[in-house]
Amino acid sequence: MCGIIGYVGSRTAVPILLDGLRTLEYRGYDSAGIYVPGHSPVKAVGPIDNLAAKFAESIPGTTGIAHTRWATHGAPTEANAHPHLDMSGSIALAHNGIIENFRELREGLISQGIKFDSETDTEVLAKLIGTLYQGDLLKAVQDSLSLVRGTYGIIVTSTHHSDKIVTARLGSPVVIGLGIDGNLISSDPSALLAHTKDVVYLEDGECAVVTKDAYEILTLKGKRLTKTPETVELEVEAVQKQGYDHFMLKEIFEIPEVIENTIRGRQILSKGKVKLGGLDGVFSKLTSASRLMIVGCGSAYYAGQVGRYLLEEYAGLPTEVELGSEYRYKRNLPDKESAVIVVTQSGETADTLASVRSAKEQGILTLGIVNAVGSTIARETEAGIYNHAGPEIAVASTKAFISQLTVFVLLTVLLARERGMSLEEGKKIVEELNNLPDLIRKYLKNTSDIKTVAKKYAGYRDAMFIGRKFHAPIAYEGSLKLKEVTYIHAEAYAAGELKHGSIAMLDENFPIVALVPQDDVYEKMISNIEEVRARKAPVLAIATKGDKHISEVADDVLFVPKVHPILQPIVSTIPLQLLAYYIGVEKGLNVDRPRNLAKSVTVE
Ligand code: F6R
Repeated sequence: MCGIIGYVGSRTAVPILLDGLRTLEYRGYDSAGIYVPGHSPVKAVGPIDNLAAKFAESIPGTTGIAHTRWATHGAPTEANAHPHLDMSGSIALAHNGIIENFRELREGLISQGIKFDSETDTEVLAKLIGTLYQGDLLKAVQDSLSLVRGTYGIIVTSTHHSDKIVTARLGSPVVIGLGIDGNLISSDPSALLAHTKDVVYLEDGECAVVTKDAYEILTLKGKRLTKTPETVELEVEAVQKQGYDHFMLKEIFEIPEVIENTIRGRQILSKGKVKLGGLDGVFSKLTSASRLMIVGCGSAYYAGQVGRYLLEEYAGLPTEVELGSEYRYKRNLPDKESAVIVVTQSGETADTLASVRSAKEQGILTLGIVNAVGSTIARETEAGIYNHAGPEIAVASTKAFISQLTVFVLLTVLLARERGMSLEEGKKIVEELNNLPDLIRKYLKNTSDIKTVAKKYAGYRDAMFIGRKFHAPIAYEGSLKLKEVTYIHAEAYAAGELKHGSIAMLDENFPIVALVPQDDVYEKMISNIEEVRARKAPVLAIATKGDKHISEVADDVLFVPKVHPILQPIVSTIPLQLLAYYIGVEKGLNVDRPRNLAKSVTVE
């Protein structure tokens, strides 16, 4: 949430910062701004293009800081856009996070006669640094941060120190990129890729002074630290659209490759087994766990819900699922033998991270299913499984969700084979999983039926998604995707729940999207469809190929290949993602950057 980028080097800073902001735009797009020492900050409301338009003539200067904002405190206006200045106008700050005690700090500063130009929490920190500045920028930053409660990833520069950027982190990511003609600082390594793959990650409680050809890392108390640079295993193409109209579409079409990457080297076909190297060190602890707790937010939470069904069904392992925003505040009563598995694409989600920390405090084994390599959660969990889904740029999660489901299949087989799943069953699943990418590749060759259906359903104001068992969480995920990308009001229910209240809402203007694969709850789903049809609700069914009956009860059907039940949720999700995408496009919406959202939710 919010993206920061800084550059200090020998090239003109503005074009580098604008390019970086474009890569970071998915983290927030309410407003953006750039500051180059010696010039006034340049700011604009809305997408980065609006800011770029203000640089018809680039300004000179080889140091600069920039920010793209997801508004937390104060409306998305130019005044509230970062970077913010201190009262002398010579120190500038860009910030990702929230200063929780900003009101009391602000009152203290106002009583000293300091005036504010914005409603933001960030400006308070900028002004605070200004009041404590006595010629040493690093010290002023360190002293100010000692007075602050909250989270931050910050970059600070000044007209008096235009050859350096000071950065610090607590709770919001900061990574330093070591380039040939200068160094960069960002909240996300993807924004550094055009310049370098050599990076140094800051940990919570650390700060750094970055110059053109050096960097120095310290604790906030001033102790010097030595860190070895790491190499980011990402290609710059991975964060470009490569001919697709939108990142969301590109990422859906990457699904076959994503599954290949998620399962690569992790199956032992002849033994019907799975090997997850990241869990080696905790394998005996994990296999002796008597209960699992899965924690995540949004789509990752729904992936966890599917995981629970799979782990209970195939591995016979009692499993619960909690939202990160609940787990961290509630009283958890784990026994010593339980393990917590957090699921997160970004690896930075504040509530998920807080859940990891809270579980660790209780001495519980914490594992991560994480996509972003090197992210905070990847580093703070004791062990884990990387998704290898590649960077996900569209705000709505698609390929990462599919990869999360795939990891749960792998984890389920791993544990189930230890807990009595037969060799034959293990082999069947592992072989089908291996064939899944090609099957989906073939499926994605023709999505014209989804486009046609999208046109028909784009005009409705509401929609309700229903499914049972493995497909109940998929119904929730489908409704979330539709809401995010199309702003159509959508709800989801485990299909059996409808008659306990919500069926009252249905009429001919309230369509139902029913997930109805030919599985062991098929008959029950057909009954539920009959019930909603009796209320005249139009029915769009997601059914499996070969189902001859479904067209008699549904108005429209999108067929997907029939696969092993453990894999069916993966396949059934894809038409829901495409449905949301095509409806969003049909409505002329910005599907990659829906309103009010940001990709990485680092605020609580
Ligand atoms: C929905 C979506 C969000 C995320 C959620 C968790 O399309 O992307 O609901 O799933 O914000 O994010 P991560 O997985 O980064 O922890």
